[in-house]
Amino acid sequence: MQLWFQTWQEVETYLQHAQGIIIPIGSTEQHGPNGLIGTDAICAEQIARGTGELANALVAPTISVGIAGHHMGFAGTMTLAPTTLIRLIGEQVEALAAHGFRSFFFLNGHGGNIATVQAAFAELHAARWRAGLPEVRCKLLSWWECDGVQKLWRELYGDAEGLHATASEVAVTRYLFPEHIKNVPLDPAIAPTSHFYDARDYRRRFPDGRIGSNPALSTPQDGEKLYKAAASGMAEAYRAFLAEPWDGAAV
Ligand code: NI
Repeated sequence: MQLWFQTWQEVETYLQHAQGIIIPIGSTEQHGPNGLIGTDAICAEQIARGTGELANALVAPTISVGIAGHHMGFAGTMTLAPTTLIRLIGEQVEALAAHGFRSFFFLNGHGGNIATVQAAFAELHAARWRAGLPEVRCKLLSWWECDGVQKLWRELYGDAEGLHATASEVAVTRYLFPEHIKNVPLDPAIAPTSHFYDARDYRRRFPDGRIGSNPALSTPQDGEKLYKAAASGMAEAYRAFLAEPWDGAAV
């Protein structure tokens, strides 16, 4: 259930029996020669949609630009400063908390967001504690962390899965948007892997943008399996998050 497609009365009714909401968060950044710039936001948004259906949960609008400074050496990448994302997350959670939402499940599509999102949670909790506001809970989980997804990509791609522009995320976008499949030769087939420093260093080490992956292996059929495993794994994680013991009286 997407928040955008409800009326305010429907949201009031939802809040009478539920206080949880799913917030997809991704990134708008290069994903190599055959991966879409929207890959991380598309995967987070669409998997969140499936998760919301399975868990009967509301899904907020996607935070579609994240922390992608290290991809700025490639055209089309957009990024926020970490401090901007921390404020954006804090203000969005506070807006929803004002209406009675208490459990915020961030469904993540981009590894580069993780440190900043955790910092945003720490800022939010500290500010609410100082102000004496009621307890809220925030959880961040990346869709590829589900056991079912991990098992699938190991079977499908093994070492060719990689770390950026991964075979599995490209497969999910190929399943969801087959009209946007790009068939571009990749050389080398499996991209190099190493650490990197800044955007210039990234471009130097990974000239076509991929890290360690061979997304030429990605098919829409794989993407469908990965999408379904992710949606069901995330729905299970969401339900477990809501079922955790809750001491709402503690401030
Ligand atoms: Ni990605």
